[in-house]
Amino acid sequence: MTDTGEQPAPVHPLYPDAGSPVPLQRLYLEAPLPDQGRFGPWIYGNFVATLDGRIALAHPETGRLGVTESIGDARDWRLFQELAARADVLITSGRYLRDLRLGTAQDVLPLSSREPFADLLEWRVRHGYPRQPDVAVLSATLDFQLPEALFRQGRRVTVLTGALAGDEAVQRHEQDGARVIRVSSGDAVDGGDVARALGDMGYRRAYSVTGPYVLHALMRAGALDGLFLTQRHRIVGGEHYSTITEGPVLTPPADLRLQWLYLDAATETAPGQQFARFSLEYRPS
Ligand SMILES: NC(=O)c1ccc[n+]([C@@H]2O[C@H](COP(=O)([O-])OP(=O)(O)OC[C@H]3O[C@@H](n4cnc5c(N)ncnc54)[C@H](OP(=O)(O)O)[C@@H]3O)[C@@H](O)[C@H]2O)c1
Repeated sequence: MTDTGEQPAPVHPLYPDAGSPVPLQRLYLEAPLPDQGRFGPWIYGNFVATLDGRIALAHPETGRLGVTESIGDARDWRLFQELAARADVLITSGRYLRDLRLGTAQDVLPLSSREPFADLLEWRVRHGYPRQPDVAVLSATLDFQLPEALFRQGRRVTVLTGALAGDEAVQRHEQDGARVIRVSSGDAVDGGDVARALGDMGYRRAYSVTGPYVLHALMRAGALDGLFLTQRHRIVGGEHYSTITEGPVLTPPADLRLQWLYLDAATETAPGQQFARFSLEYRPS
């Protein structure tokens, strides 16, 4: 039910089989998902993008990138939260935690404690998960502050970084309560090393809630297993924006196989959107 008590509109299954409309609520919560990926946990990402591929636009005054209301909506946000409810651990980034301090991030890390998502916390407890997923932060610089709220919520926080990370910053995060692991030999972290480290910690499903650079690191290593993509039927333009992946050309490119597709039809006040799930296929170069 919405805040006004009205039943939210259903979505239309288009693929693999077109069928009768189904409720949006619990669409991703109840869907069967793997719990084993190529290198350990099943690692999945999620983006909302416009038809011109924008996932974030620069703020006209500050220039900082953010997901504007012209890109994401509440229905997509519900699915984002449902996907978080399925995870043992969320993968986030140093950039996200810096934004959080500046107050420009979309929300605190899921799961949201707001009332419309209370059923997701209950669902986790009923299925034997801790109330909140753990958190893994990818960062080369270690230049961020861990929010105290994460520890208050009882989440295990791990920072995954490269061999060149400074000792002082490592100690600072350890004193705050995180475990810091230098998983890769260089500055940047390799996506395969991330997956193996998360597997060693016993995680079976890891949800990347970060942006284009982390997605690139995961795909370059063949470590991203699944991608959920909401495409809003809207074009926003703009000269300063982000798109779902950024970084050197992927050689070979990552190929994706469609697993499902739903249409969330346009209304008189909002454009339509489509909810897709893909699996990743990595072919030898
Ligand atoms: N529409 C959507 O669905 C959606 C989803 C996610 C994000 N976004 C938006 O996308 C915008 C851009 O995000 P972003 O460019 O900041 O991307 P990002 O991939 O979220 O974060 C980049 C940060 O991750 C760390 N990182 C990335 N690759 C790494 C590696 N290989 N090794 C170690 N650390 C690594 C670095 O942290 P350090 O600098 O600390 O080293 C880097 O600054 C944001 O405005 C965000 O809100 C939109």
